Amino acid sequence: MGNSLAKQLPEPGLGLHKFRLLRVIGRGSFGKVRIVEHRETAKPYALKYINKATCIRMRSHVNTIRERDMLEELDHPFVVNLRFSFQDEFSMFMVMDLMIGGDLRFHMMRRRFVEGVIKFWIAELACAISYLHANGIVHRDIKPDNILMDHRGHVALTDFNIATRIVRGAPHFSVAGTANYMAPEVVSGAGYSYSIDWWSLGVVMYECVYGRRPFRHKKSADELKRALLQEEIQFPIIADVQVSYDCISAMRGFLHKDPAVRLGCGPAGLAAVKAHPFFASINWPVLEAKRADPPFVPNPEQSNFDISHDLEEMLLEPEPLDAKKRIAMKRHKTPPEHACPEYHEITRAFAAFDYIEYERFKTYIETHGAITADDSAIAVSNTVLASVRLDGRPIFPPLDSRRSNSRASTAHIASRNSVNAATASTSSPDAPPRIATSILAISPNSTTTTSSSSTTTTMSTPVAAVATTADDYKFTE
Ligand SMILES: Nc1ncnc2c1ncn2[C@@H]1O[C@H](COP(=O)(O)OP(=O)(O)O)[C@@H](O)[C@H]1O
Ligand SMILES: [Mg+2]
Repeated sequence: MGNSLAKQLPEPGLGLHKFRLLRVIGRGSFGKVRIVEHRETAKPYALKYINKATCIRMRSHVNTIRERDMLEELDHPFVVNLRFSFQDEFSMFMVMDLMIGGDLRFHMMRRRFVEGVIKFWIAELACAISYLHANGIVHRDIKPDNILMDHRGHVALTDFNIATRIVRGAPHFSVAGTANYMAPEVVSGAGYSYSIDWWSLGVVMYECVYGRRPFRHKKSADELKRALLQEEIQFPIIADVQVSYDCISAMRGFLHKDPAVRLGCGPAGLAAVKAHPFFASINWPVLEAKRADPPFVPNPEQSNFDISHDLEEMLLEPEPLDAKKRIAMKRHKTPPEHACPEYHEITRAFAAFDYIEYERFKTYIETHGAITADDSAIAVSNTVLASVRLDGRPIFPPLDSRRSNSRASTAHIASRNSVNAATASTSSPDAPPRIATSILAISPNSTTTTSSSSTTTTMSTPVAAVATTADDYKFTE
């Protein structure tokens, strides 16, 4: 029995070779993202890859490891979920659900949206934020670039690079986030908690409605900080933009400078958002089950990504993923960062994850909690035994009815003796989207846009700050 079960285990070696590389669709401050196809299942995914040496140089390796760890624990219909993670000598890789509809920034820069569409997005995002907070996580970087759309028009939060945990209610004091989306309590230094995500959601909503952020034309971080702490937010009357009273009231609610009374914050949390008149038309149970019909569906025949990323990759290609070129990279001088303790920390802590394996062992893990490498064979046998039924009833009930919400992969199981507390799966990956072939390859007809309407702020705080694609500044711890 042992031998036949062993054959069911996958071949070892989760790595780039498992994927066919397609076009580059995104670039952030720390990583690049490209479409890949899982060779075994022919499923498309998004591959986010981060160069280890760059990451160490930018002092963000801790963030990347934490991002991977958090994503492994999360599974929600409105969060871009992790499916695989692995590393090689040069890079860390995270394979995520592919959001073929592109990011919200891409769409906002091309057209205006009516209130009904904005309401739908904000409602789905509110569910995601509430889920993160219930799991002790503050995202800290909610902005249109980190809100992605699937092929049906549902939105999901991504980029947990600067997300953090709230431990025993203790506030955070570090300045982290993207300048124009940061809440007053982040820049004031008063200490902050979950409330800051609701503020950022308010800025996103405002930007969707008016096509600009509440405090534009601020030329420095200090000017922005002053405005954020002292200036009243204006809700202007603009020709051609219909804004209802309820919509303004909801924006005012999220953009309340005092977190104690901000919409979404405090014990009322998501319930207060649901009860707000602006969201009266939302059928929340249907929406939360991801069964509501999105009012805006991205065009499946057209690329929803900025093609400049792909062109840049072809012309400059600072980090080729092609197998032959990667072998050639090894012949070059090893980057000095590879000798740093941080490099060894990445090797140790950036654990492999394979959700297919996780799915296979899920029942066992959920009933038994922690599992060791030696247990994996037993896990298989228990899974098999549990499926043996007589007259529709299991012959071998689970050994232990203790329920844990842990989530782990066999690779992870093999590398750790205990599994972090995590949430039970609430969603299954959607059916793979139909992707127009024009999207997979560079289309000569695609349009390119380079920058958004946001103001560049100069850094005056001694923290790591990097320019983001939005001409904004992202502050990391
Ligand atoms: N799963 C995905 N599907 C489609 N596009 C994605 C996906 N993940 C990221 N992107 C694109 O890549 C960009 C950068 O990814 P992100 O995770 O935000 O990296 P960074 O931490 O460097 O900002 C996003 O703004 C988005 O345009
Ligand atoms: Mg990002």
